[in-house]
Amino acid sequence: MATKIQIIFYSMYGHVYRMAEAVAAGAREVSGTSVMIFQVPELVSDEILEKSGAKAARQVFAHVPLARVEQLPDADAIIFGTPTRFGNMAAQMRNFLDQTGGLWARGALVGKVGSVFTSTATQHGGQETTITSFHSTLLHQGLIIVGVPYTAAGLTKMNEITGGSPYGAGTLAASDGSRQPSENELEIARFQGRHVANIASRLTANR
Ligand SMILES: Cc1cc2nc3c(=O)[nH]c(=O)nc-3n(C[C@H](O)[C@H](O)[C@H](O)COP(=O)(O)O)c2cc1C
Repeated sequence: MATKIQIIFYSMYGHVYRMAEAVAAGAREVSGTSVMIFQVPELVSDEILEKSGAKAARQVFAHVPLARVEQLPDADAIIFGTPTRFGNMAAQMRNFLDQTGGLWARGALVGKVGSVFTSTATQHGGQETTITSFHSTLLHQGLIIVGVPYTAAGLTKMNEITGGSPYGAGTLAASDGSRQPSENELEIARFQGRHVANIASRLTANR
């Protein structure tokens, strides 16, 4: 039976979506995996999205199906992506997770692999706090947290600005959103997908 990996993201301007595609590409490199990408529902009104330019940006990933909490128990590994909001996850992702109380009550996610990646506008804008504060929810749900070990060579790159940390992949979007994920950031994201898929495959090998 395939090892089932769900990638669930929120993105307002597309940076986290691009990272999600890279995470998925990495996970698909591991044989015997089935990898699916979902986005969580938007909470911001159309009017505000239009004013902020997000409406047009969101067209790029409008085809990605909406995640439903009922699908989570079907996964062997869940990899979450969220932009930072004041050093924490986005409310859209929080809203999705806050609907998983029923799953928590049944222990439906216990023993699955969980992992998180992110995007910030700025270099020290909270990539690590966004990911580690997200981990609290995953631990309450009983997921086994996987990050990005330093065997990902891109983490030690010092000759260019880069997102990503041992906690998870990350990209730097710039304050006006003009910067796109760099090749180094995308490679760390692919590494994270591969790494989670390898670990989840080992955990599910004997079922
Ligand atoms: C309300 C709000 C709070 C934000 N807080 C931070 C922050 O604390 N640090 C930071 O670097 N960027 C911050 N940002 C910028 C977003 O993280 C950035 O737009 C996002 O990473 C881009 O990803 P996306 O294109 O997938 O939406 C904030 C943006 C908004 C709208």
